[in-house]
Amino acid sequence: MTNCSIPSLQPETRNPKPETVIVAGVDIGSTTSKAVILQGHRIAGTFIGPSSTNPTKTAEEVFRKALEEARIERNEVRHIVGTGYGRARVAFANENISEISCHGKGAHFLVPTVRTVIDIGGQDTKVISVDAQGRLQDFGVNDKCAAGTGRFLDFIAGSLGLKVSDLGRHHFETGEPVTISHMCSVFAESEVINLINEGAPLASVVKGLHLSVASRINSIARRVGLVPEVVITGGVAKNPGVIKCLEEKLEVELKSLPGDFDPQLIGALGAAVIAAEKVNK
Ligand SMILES: Nc1ncnc2c1ncn2[C@@H]1O[C@H](COP(=O)(O)OP(=O)(O)OP(=O)(O)O)[C@@H](O)[C@H]1O
Ligand SMILES: [Mg+2]
Repeated sequence: MTNCSIPSLQPETRNPKPETVIVAGVDIGSTTSKAVILQGHRIAGTFIGPSSTNPTKTAEEVFRKALEEARIERNEVRHIVGTGYGRARVAFANENISEISCHGKGAHFLVPTVRTVIDIGGQDTKVISVDAQGRLQDFGVNDKCAAGTGRFLDFIAGSLGLKVSDLGRHHFETGEPVTISHMCSVFAESEVINLINEGAPLASVVKGLHLSVASRINSIARRVGLVPEVVITGGVAKNPGVIKCLEEKLEVELKSLPGDFDPQLIGALGAAVIAAEKVNK
């Protein structure tokens, strides 16, 4: 990944005026719920928590915790955009907008040269083309199957007795990748267990899993087209093994986010950016 830095995102270099507009984005995804508070160009507060069977309550909680981190009162927030699967359940939002547009806007806020966003979330993988202003041009999404999503990796990691956050570390241990022939999570699980029982190193199996996810995403990306710069968002972007396999398969360098911004927050950030655009209009 290449690095870039956006000075406006480094809180220590910013001194926002008290009258700067404050807005928020709340992304209720299939797996996690996220909130971002934006004060002018400064990211003032963020929060990530698990999604639940009560998205309205979860939305309240993530918003409150992001406000606490920002040390901002609720009544100071001028506009709130809800996004993600549960966006209609963000009862306090002024409006809700599809996460596809929000990921584009969020990635563009951090990397203005972005033209393709690959969002790998818990349930969906989306390849999103944006214009020079970060506006949605086209997109492709995985079919209903979990292959190529975070859920696939969560499931197989669990079967291997691992946390999904450990997969990246195992990826870089010694071992040639095995081929995982099944895309279906259930069949892939049996295949992986058999491979381990036959003596395949864990690193080989993990690399094979990451390659299978990357292949799946590659086929969506080829349909949509892949114009650089390319930014990867969503929780799976925190897995360096998936990043490495994707860079090899897609034959592009993925742009990393300035200030080590958490890629899982980009949808909520984009929702906040859209909220700011509405206020400033
Ligand atoms: N530290 C981590 N390392 C590796 N993978 C991670 C990590 N944290 C989360 N993930 C992956 O990210 C996924 C969740 O991503 P995200 O929060 O973007 O999904 P979501 O927005 O809820 O889903 P969707 O957009 O599909 O509705 C998890 O399923 C998990 O596989
Ligand atoms: Mg999401």
